[in-house]
Amino acid sequence: MKNIVVVGSQWGDEGKGKIVDWLSEQADVVVRFQGGHNAGHTLVIDGITYKLRLLPSGIVRKNKISIIGNGVVVDPWALLNEIDEIKSKGVQVHVDNFIISESANLILPFHREMDEIREDTAGKGKIGTTRRGIGPAYEDKVGRRSIRVMDLRSEKNLDQRLEAVLLHHNAIRKGLGKKIFEKNQLKKDLLKIAPDILKFSQPVWLRIDEFKRQKKKILFEGAQGILLDVDHGTYPFVTSSNTVASSAATGSGCGPNSINYVLGITKAYTTRVGEGPFPTELKDSIGEILGTKGKEFGTVTSRKRRCGWFDGVLVRQTIKISGIDGIALTKLDVLDELDEIKMCVQYDLDGKKIDYLPAAVEDQLKIKPIYKSFPGWKTSTNGIKNIDELPENAKNYIYAVEDFIGSKISSISTSPERDDTILVENPFET
Ligand code: GDP
Ligand code: IMO
Ligand code: MG
Repeated sequence: MKNIVVVGSQWGDEGKGKIVDWLSEQADVVVRFQGGHNAGHTLVIDGITYKLRLLPSGIVRKNKISIIGNGVVVDPWALLNEIDEIKSKGVQVHVDNFIISESANLILPFHREMDEIREDTAGKGKIGTTRRGIGPAYEDKVGRRSIRVMDLRSEKNLDQRLEAVLLHHNAIRKGLGKKIFEKNQLKKDLLKIAPDILKFSQPVWLRIDEFKRQKKKILFEGAQGILLDVDHGTYPFVTSSNTVASSAATGSGCGPNSINYVLGITKAYTTRVGEGPFPTELKDSIGEILGTKGKEFGTVTSRKRRCGWFDGVLVRQTIKISGIDGIALTKLDVLDELDEIKMCVQYDLDGKKIDYLPAAVEDQLKIKPIYKSFPGWKTSTNGIKNIDELPENAKNYIYAVEDFIGSKISSISTSPERDDTILVENPFET
């Protein structure tokens, strides 16, 4: 049995959706385990684009089970809209192929409003969140006042829990001079959609245990990236969940021994959406080329993604933090036209050379990247499926990245299309 966790090794949008979809041909079950509809995972299959936020990327294939685990925060209306949207593209979503954990915590409208209020009043300190209510929802989970999927079963429980959570939110809202949030309309709205959500709800840990005993292959699909992890990322410019691979165990209800291989998805350059440190950011014409050629606009918010050179120091660090066994290198084709390609191999902090990202955000903002330079290949790699067909300079760049980060590059993606992928080593067979 081989179960794989896919995580982003940078600041998200590395191409996790494409790679999960490609790998899910070999999997039986695909599980989302953290994050929420802040994620935007894009799949392109025979020219048709699918954008997934909450649904696991295995959903588009027939005869696969898709699971939203307990670690995900779920906006029930966003989920229902997404189901309708994907069904309109001919994808089946029904109780036999889709499960949501009864313990998943809900994102409710007052979470979204709190996210917006905070961002709008933070001035220079704003995070640049997706404004989907992710942070406030995770706060309520840890604060033990959250509403979970299972609470939709009983009007009495729902009423009591809404009372408790709104007591908290309304105290803050009053303090900020905002209107208090009324319970009754929200309760009515939730009870109206409750059957549509509850029909998918199950104890996920139990189903995963069954799948393991049946020797089914499970693919865990991470959202965001390790540098957005609330513990290990560029705090406070992070998301509010643990995005590292070990979250797959807590976020779905299985032990760490259920994970056999961690695949880190890594862009051949670097992007970031929202605020926060970005040592290799390019604010020049090369940054523009990467953004235009790589179509670097947010899947969820359409915001322009900040672009920069590949940061080997960061990826080497996230490989260690998350226990990454192999890398899928994506968007190599975006570098095709460049004369010169650079990789950050060290930082300068106040005249001192350092080999890792310092923990304090003040230092992260100060460090200057030290680069190694590579000649470009100036020829198209778009759609190449065989490593031998790559230009020599592209191979040299890939091997230099592999050598520096200290992890095997097990696949290389050369276009958004599912099958435009070079397989070097099958993670399901290692
Ligand atoms: P995710 O959040 O990690 O799933 O990534 P996103 O879907 O948000 O962003 C990745 C973008 O790059 C999407 O538009 C993909 O279709 C696209 N993409 C993925 N792999 C490649 C690739 O190898 N080459 C190019 N040009 N685009 C890619
Ligand atoms: P996928 O799964 C890129 C970023 C936001 C912001 C920070 C906090 O598509 O890779 P949040 O709304 O989570 O509180 O915002 O995290 N962010 C992402 N950036 N890809 C994502 O997901 C992201 N999800 C959140 O832009 O900087
Ligand atoms: Mg994305």
